[in-house]
Formats: sequence, C-alpha cells, structure tokens
Amino acid sequence: MAQLFFVERGDASAPPIVFLHGFPFDHTMWQAQLEALSSRYRCIAPDLRGYGRSPMLSTTKPWTMDDFAEDVVRLLDGLGIARATVCGLSMGGYIAFALWRNHRARLSRLILANTKAQGDSEQAKANRRRQAELVRTQGMRPLADEMLPKLLAPSASLHVVEAVRAMIEHTPVETVLATLPALAERPDMSRALGAINVPTLILVGDQDAISPVSEAQFMQAHIPNARLVVIPNAGHLSPMEQPAAFNQAVLAFLSETDAGNAS
Ligand code: MLT
Repeated sequence: MAQLFFVERGDASAPPIVFLHGFPFDHTMWQAQLEALSSRYRCIAPDLRGYGRSPMLSTTKPWTMDDFAEDVVRLLDGLGIARATVCGLSMGGYIAFALWRNHRARLSRLILANTKAQGDSEQAKANRRRQAELVRTQGMRPLADEMLPKLLAPSASLHVVEAVRAMIEHTPVETVLATLPALAERPDMSRALGAINVPTLILVGDQDAISPVSEAQFMQAHIPNARLVVIPNAGHLSPMEQPAAFNQAVLAFLSETDAGNAS
C-alpha cells in the first residue's frame, strides 16, 4: 500500500469528501471543487500511487483498481475518517466502485463523474496495449497529443487545455505502464449496480467522448434512486471545463442528502 500525498481544505469537523482523480491526471484537477466546497465540507484530494507527488510503488505484482482503493482506505484511516462521500472521475469512479465492493461501510455517498460501469471491450484492451507501447517508446507527449482532443469539449479554454496537458506530461511513464493493465482488467460493474444503496449522484459532460452520456444513463437506470446531471458544454473533464455547473450540481446533491450523512 502507498502513503498518498494529499491536499486537505475545510474544517476537520465538517463532513468529509474524498476526490479521486482520473487517468493520467493528479489532484490538481479538483482545484475548483476544493475552493467551492471547502466552506462546508472537509475536502481531501489525494494523488493516487505513482501520480503527482505520491510515491511510485513496486510493479512486480500487477496493480489493480482494488490496490488503488486500499491506498485510499489507508488514507482515510490515517485521517481518522470512518465514512466519507467519495467523488471519483473516470478511473476515480472505477476506484470508487472498488471501495464499494471491498469497503462499503466506509462510503456515505457516491459521486460518479464522467465514468462508466462497463469493463473494457477487447478493442479497448488492445488500445491500452497500443498506448503502453507508445509511451514506452516515445514518452508521454504523444499520449497527451492523442488524448487531449478526446478529453475536452471543443469549447474548452486554453487554460484548461494547458493544465490537462501538464498533468498528463508530468505523469511518469512507469505509472502509466502500471495503470493501463489495471484499467483493462477492472471488473465490470454493470450487474452489480443494483446493490448500491448509498445516495448517488452521476455527472457527465454532454460531449464526453470517453464515458458518454449513454453510460451515465445506464448507471442511473440501475443504481437505485441515483440522480443524473448532464453538464452542458463539457467533455470528459467536466469539473475543470465547467466548474460552476459541476459544483452547483454537487452542492445541491450534498445539501439534499446531508441529513443522515454527517460523516
Ligand atoms: C480516465 O479519465 O480516468 C480514463 O479515461 C479512464 C479510462 O481510460 O477508462
């Protein structure tokens, strides 16, 4: 297990929210959420193992989404947090699902942003092998070049484009090589959604080309009482592309579900 780097904002006695970034990003993608939500919530945003300022771990044993989740549980333990709202974007959502599978008592609410329940198709797995070869031989820049047009809506500001490029290019190649197989082999959650019994908010950008609206609608249809908010003019990184709309949806969900979820 890794000892994760994290940033924390807000009062330590406020209800905690843990923000889990996507692939291949880091905690800085949540900056606008930490600013907007920390007056009412204890906001914690880690860098996952090997990302941002968190240490790389041995890759002698292949990583799994469950491993990422164990790191998060260790972080919660270290902070003395018994239960938290978990907000995960894309891979962060897959890790939130792993927390649900293995540590459901630690979850008070789920916020699933720009993510999906389905596992990888054979084609998606082959694409991950191709991406691994690309970064192994040419480094991160070509991966950033390839990913950026798919990650962001055409209307994304230059500031957001540059911030996303910087996160991708700063991610170590070895982290990407250890993560791609974990993404490819993640469990399919499609048939397990019906058991999720914590309040759940699903968010998706209307132009998300990676986890499209149809995937979000599928999750909403199968997670009991889940609510879905589609963010206009946003792609796969809706919290960065449209922070005001994203934060408004999250705050509305949290306020409505705060009673009974103080921790
Ligand atoms: C992410 O943003 O975390 C990735 O798009 C996840 C994936 O490739 O499945």
